[in-house]
Amino acid sequence: MSTIDTTCLLTDRYALADSFTYAVAEKAGAYATARKVLTGMQPDAIKAEVKAANIRGRGGAGFPAGVKWGFLPPPDPNKPVYLVINADEGEPGTFKDRTIMEKDPHRLLEGCIIAMRAIGAHTTYIYVRGELVTSIKRLEQGIRDLRAKGVLGKRPFGIDHAMDIHVHPGGGAYICGEETSLLNSLEGYRGEPRLKPPFPAVSGAFGMPTIVNNVETIASVPDILKLGGAAWSALSRLPNDGGTRLYGVSGHVKNPHVFEGPVGLTLREMIDLCGGMLDASRPLKGVIPGGSSTPVLRPDDLVHAPDAAHPLHAWHGKSHLDVPMGVDTMRNLGTMLGTCCAIVMDSSVNMVEAARNLMRFYHHESCGQCTPCREGTGWLAEICDRIADGHATEADVELLVDVSNNMMGNTICALADGTAMPMLAFVRKFRGEFLAAAREGGVKNGRLDQAVVPLLGGRAA
Ligand SMILES: Cc1cc2nc3c(=O)[nH]c(=O)nc-3n(C[C@H](O)[C@H](O)[C@H](O)COP(=O)(O)O)c2cc1C
Ligand code: SF4
Repeated sequence: MSTIDTTCLLTDRYALADSFTYAVAEKAGAYATARKVLTGMQPDAIKAEVKAANIRGRGGAGFPAGVKWGFLPPPDPNKPVYLVINADEGEPGTFKDRTIMEKDPHRLLEGCIIAMRAIGAHTTYIYVRGELVTSIKRLEQGIRDLRAKGVLGKRPFGIDHAMDIHVHPGGGAYICGEETSLLNSLEGYRGEPRLKPPFPAVSGAFGMPTIVNNVETIASVPDILKLGGAAWSALSRLPNDGGTRLYGVSGHVKNPHVFEGPVGLTLREMIDLCGGMLDASRPLKGVIPGGSSTPVLRPDDLVHAPDAAHPLHAWHGKSHLDVPMGVDTMRNLGTMLGTCCAIVMDSSVNMVEAARNLMRFYHHESCGQCTPCREGTGWLAEICDRIADGHATEADVELLVDVSNNMMGNTICALADGTAMPMLAFVRKFRGEFLAAAREGGVKNGRLDQAVVPLLGGRAA
């Protein structure tokens, strides 16, 4: 096993027996920070700490939380502010938020209390994927306990700022993780993304100013306030991307799991921390770095950044897997950090099969409002089927590129880009495999086993 030092803040109560209960969490320090903050700090000072923490949103887009909170309009008594927690966690390969909700729901609830104080909200909605039954039960029990203790209610910790939190189970549609679609679903409408602007901070839940944040983003807030924003930020290995975060690894590693570490671990370190590759005779072939919408990386691709001014110059000549995982570093590499939950694929995987599996998922999950997405996801799935099953020509491989290019930047939400970008990367980085399948009557070698299929959003063929 690796000796890489990992930091435990967010996860420091995970290993305690009954860690999800109020009694155990409180004994281990939960709500001490909330009490101190609510009784001793003004909202602007809380916001300043979150800004200084440089925390990039943990839901996939990596937007700085402190900056987002600053987009709220000035307080207006006729416009209640809402806090909405995105606990939909539907991105294939991503399974980090549920560990917080199952093992330490009070970390999230404490974060909600501090965030509500900072942004002037009195109500939080936690929108949880319906299948996450244990998460829902534990959050609901936690909320009942907090109400009974008066931590939620008219005067939390004796201050004049009424607060309540509600859990809203979702129906399990991937698109309901997109923040405006989530808001529609929360309001009882069909889960379809809204056109932006207006952004939720101006007009969100029920038309009111709303901050939507990911579970992990808000669960990090107690530690940010406990340590101070600058000190928490400095735990990271990277600039402008602070703190520690959850890393998830699945697929062909010995011990797939979620763990915490400083921002900026590399994919290779992540694999080491999971005990290495599952089978020594099957070398690493590709890694999807941060959930299925993020373009695949190859271990044998090297960073090309000879120019000293290039942001990745320090890693010039190194494998893509040795670049620290950060929002900006991954973008500069031509992929995305996403949810920081990697899917590791060894040499047994055929990338045409991997792409087909994923495209079927996106086609199924497109809400259908935008023609390029509704039609494009269908075409990509169908062309991948043709190539994999041996009914294609080499021209079909270029058609994948053409269709993908026509999907990007032309839609209401990012699902279309999140389909097209990984498709383009599969073709660009494993073109030989696609051409071979087109030429030789379909996929001959390679397979998708149970270790990766569910993570790519589909079922075993
Ligand atoms: C198709 C789609 C699905 C998404 N699913 C999730 C999700 O399950 N959880 C999540 O936190 N963010 C998800 N997002 C990102 C949210 O729209 C939003 O950026 C995020 O909740 C903001 O929180 P953060 O700033 O704390 O990251 C998704 C985005 C898209 C386009
Ligand atoms: S891009 Fe796709 S999922 Fe998003 S709104 Fe348009 S059709 Fe719906």
